[in-house]
Amino acid sequence: MNSETHIFDSPPEGANDDWTIDQAWDKFTDHEHETWDILFERQYKMLPGRACKAFIDGMNVLKLDKAGIPDFKDLNAILMDKTGWQVVAVPGLVPDDVFFDHLANRRFVSGNFIRQRDQLDYLQEPDVFHDVFGHVPMLADQTFADYMQAYGQGGLRSLKYDALKNLARLYWYTVEFGLIQEAEGLRIYGAGIVSSYGESVFALDDDSPNRIKFDLERIMRSEYRIDDYQQNYFVIDDLKQLLEVTQQTDFAPLYETLKTLPDIAVADIIDSDSVMTHGTQHYAQNKAKKV
Ligand code: PHE
Ligand code: FE
Repeated sequence: MNSETHIFDSPPEGANDDWTIDQAWDKFTDHEHETWDILFERQYKMLPGRACKAFIDGMNVLKLDKAGIPDFKDLNAILMDKTGWQVVAVPGLVPDDVFFDHLANRRFVSGNFIRQRDQLDYLQEPDVFHDVFGHVPMLADQTFADYMQAYGQGGLRSLKYDALKNLARLYWYTVEFGLIQEAEGLRIYGAGIVSSYGESVFALDDDSPNRIKFDLERIMRSEYRIDDYQQNYFVIDDLKQLLEVTQQTDFAPLYETLKTLPDIAVADIIDSDSVMTHGTQHYAQNKAKKV
């Protein structure tokens, strides 16, 4: 998600009122399908022992290992049946209220293009690989599926409190860059990590970043970087914790409190943090990327 940049102010020519477009799966070229396969292959090999159980299960149940860019028709038949979610194609980034409205209705929007071969590791805007490979497996998990819908409803509400900045950080540090503590070890559930070759190693293995226990208010105060690997990751105990804490907290008073507190810089640790791994912070810029 990116709340800063939109390409259009209203649905572009040919798009529906809700900004969706036909995926036009037949229009993808062999070369584009092959790009998916290249990206898929290298992530797929890396994820056992790294991606969380819900992600691996989702990838399997959705049959994402089938060659080529997934046809949303087939994908949605399974996903709908599992959790009532759908993937819909959009021409590019959509306005925040449109994005939240789709989530609130259990629709996940996906960019309808795939990156070029010279962009395998670096991308400004989410493509179908990030959106589908990164996000959709988790949507096959009932608890996470409910979290995403609740987030969409919360997003619409946040606009009324002028608190999008705080809520966007929650998305960033959970949906995009979240880690989870499983019995077997630390695992990834965030889409921005799981669809990134470099960050799926960095987030778990590198000694540079801090890994801090999930804390809702703390996260909503935390700045983030979009141009490099994260220096702070937040770790949940399980998906139920994520859903329950966010659903049971009324964000309205929290937003008021947050307006009185200073933001926290990207690599900082504060006194109340429960730090699991203290990072060395040796890490230099420019090695990496978001999606
Ligand atoms: N409980 C939040 C609110 O009061 C809604 C929400 C749920 C936001 C889950 C994010 C995730 O606004
Ligand atoms: Fe994303």
